[in-house]
Amino acid sequence: MAERDEVLLKVQEKYYPPAHIVERAWVKDYESLYAQSVQDREGFWAKVAEELHWFRKWDKVLDWQFPYAQWFVGAKTNISYNCLDRHVLQGRRNKVAYIWVDEDNNERKITYGELLELVSRIANGLKSLGVKKGDRVSIYMPNSIEAVACMLACARIGAIHSVVFAGFSEGALRLRIEDAKAKVVITASYTKRRGKKIDLLATVNRAIDGLSFVEKVIVWDRDGDALNGESSLFVSFDSLVKGASPHCEPEVMDAEDPLFILYTSGTTGKPKGVLHTTGGYMVGTYYTTKVVFDLHEDDVYWCTADIGWITGHSYIVYGPLANGATSIIVEGAPDYPDPGRWWSYVEKYRVNIFYTAPTAIRMFMRYGEQWPAQYDLSSLRVLGSVGEPINPEAWHWYYKHIGRERCVIVDTWWQTETGAHMITTVPSYPAKPGKAGKPFFTIEAAVVDSSGKELPPNTVGNLVIKSPWPSMLRTCWGEPERYEKYWNTIPGYYLTGDLASYDEEGYIMILGRADDVLNVAGHRIGTMEVESALVDHPAVAEAAVIGKPHEIKGESIKAFVILKKGYEPSEKLVEEIKQHVRNVLGAIAVPDEIEFVEKLPKTRSGKIMRRVLKAQELGLPVGDISTLED
Ligand code: PRX
Repeated sequence: MAERDEVLLKVQEKYYPPAHIVERAWVKDYESLYAQSVQDREGFWAKVAEELHWFRKWDKVLDWQFPYAQWFVGAKTNISYNCLDRHVLQGRRNKVAYIWVDEDNNERKITYGELLELVSRIANGLKSLGVKKGDRVSIYMPNSIEAVACMLACARIGAIHSVVFAGFSEGALRLRIEDAKAKVVITASYTKRRGKKIDLLATVNRAIDGLSFVEKVIVWDRDGDALNGESSLFVSFDSLVKGASPHCEPEVMDAEDPLFILYTSGTTGKPKGVLHTTGGYMVGTYYTTKVVFDLHEDDVYWCTADIGWITGHSYIVYGPLANGATSIIVEGAPDYPDPGRWWSYVEKYRVNIFYTAPTAIRMFMRYGEQWPAQYDLSSLRVLGSVGEPINPEAWHWYYKHIGRERCVIVDTWWQTETGAHMITTVPSYPAKPGKAGKPFFTIEAAVVDSSGKELPPNTVGNLVIKSPWPSMLRTCWGEPERYEKYWNTIPGYYLTGDLASYDEEGYIMILGRADDVLNVAGHRIGTMEVESALVDHPAVAEAAVIGKPHEIKGESIKAFVILKKGYEPSEKLVEEIKQHVRNVLGAIAVPDEIEFVEKLPKTRSGKIMRRVLKAQELGLPVGDISTLED
């Protein structure tokens, strides 16, 4: 175990929540509610589900046919109805749902009433293009109200959305459109980052080349100059919306009808299409948003993620809307035009709940506390962390310079697959910097060895979940065997792929991935995906990729490359190869370092031993190399 982890395991320092926060918290006594919740898991979730609207109630809360779960069996609902109509009917018609801001501080606000109308118009527009329940729609859009509305429009008519992060490039986008066989793609003319326009439409155009199942591309033409009627494939978002009726009956969805596919990286092969369904996901995101962030009616809530990731799906879109919250949604870079940007929004919009990733916090630490110090951050009450382990230094900085020692920090551990928070601090009990906290209600987590034996406290092992939960993934799109692997690798348990340990008080510390999945700046990237993009370059014969500890990004990518005959290592080639990865996958997957080598360590069966490369790179013992080829 690395020295840093040894030190961290011993962290016992506790930060108690201020009394005024505990007094009005939705959950005041975690321990007793947790004990109750694991005794009657189904009763617990049924009670939560009662807070939402169902066209028909369930016959049974859970049907568990290992490893397949159905939640709220027989129930009928629609998540867009719960996120919109329900609030409009309950007096929130004129409450602001989103405040959107871009890098130039252009601002747009939309109320629940207006959002319902926009979503209904898009839904009718989609219908007019022939989109039906069960069809897939790929969404490649900027972080915007329009993107959120497109997701909800799909949900309203029962189409399955597959959002692709707009930072991904052509190859990654194509793969996702192709795998889902999307009938319609929705995009925008561009997004803006660091003052530069990034042409999304051009990328879509290249990505769908030859994909005959794509029938239409809807384009949000932001400046009205991107569409010149060149092809009947393209439809203008604005004309589609204008020409459609503002009323659209929500499709009656079974609780187990698919809601969306979101692709995420695994250890091997192409990204997996994680499938979430309607009822359980709705209940899970609704309740975690409410109690983990301790969200109240007049709060202003801001999750800084992008809708292209699960954090955006669950905690910008569905969770906050199911609660009727007012949320901020921001397009562009956190530190552009200057590192005060985010803090100026906290001040301006009086943000109460702020949810971000450790990478961002470490970046702001580097800029210095003089930036947040210029702003009034006194509205803040709850600070959240997600996506990667938060090191105690960053935790303390967040606590002091953003929270001004008056806020609680909730460190939320979860995954694309889990749909909602699984292990997290809740505001009413003390936090321990560097430890995520305790399992959420009904969640039974354990740390086990590779045979499934539970390990004693303060030892590192595999983090597993012992029983199903409402917002769990139901399958991997088109690849049920990959889904089953989560439950069959350590038979009977859901294998998270993370290493963890717990202390005597039940606080769980996450130590990072146990497998070959990288976590760069909170973004999950498969080593295999980067390697495929590398060998796709004409000069590259073979490639292996590892993650290296990085002060700000948590992990950075290093690639070892064997060149094809006739190519010589050079700085120019390094740049060319990096550019190639950027074009195929996107900026987030570009290796920081490329080293040209003659050979790669492999097993006798030809598998690259990345673990050996990593140990050598970091100067650590290489461990068991008996399977090494030579
Ligand atoms: O390694 C864990 C890390 O992110 C992985 C999941 O990535 P993804 O599916 O992209 O979802 C990210 C947002 C939920 C996990 O397997 N991770 C996520 N949250 C935390 C974390 N690691 C430590 N602490 C966290 N709070």
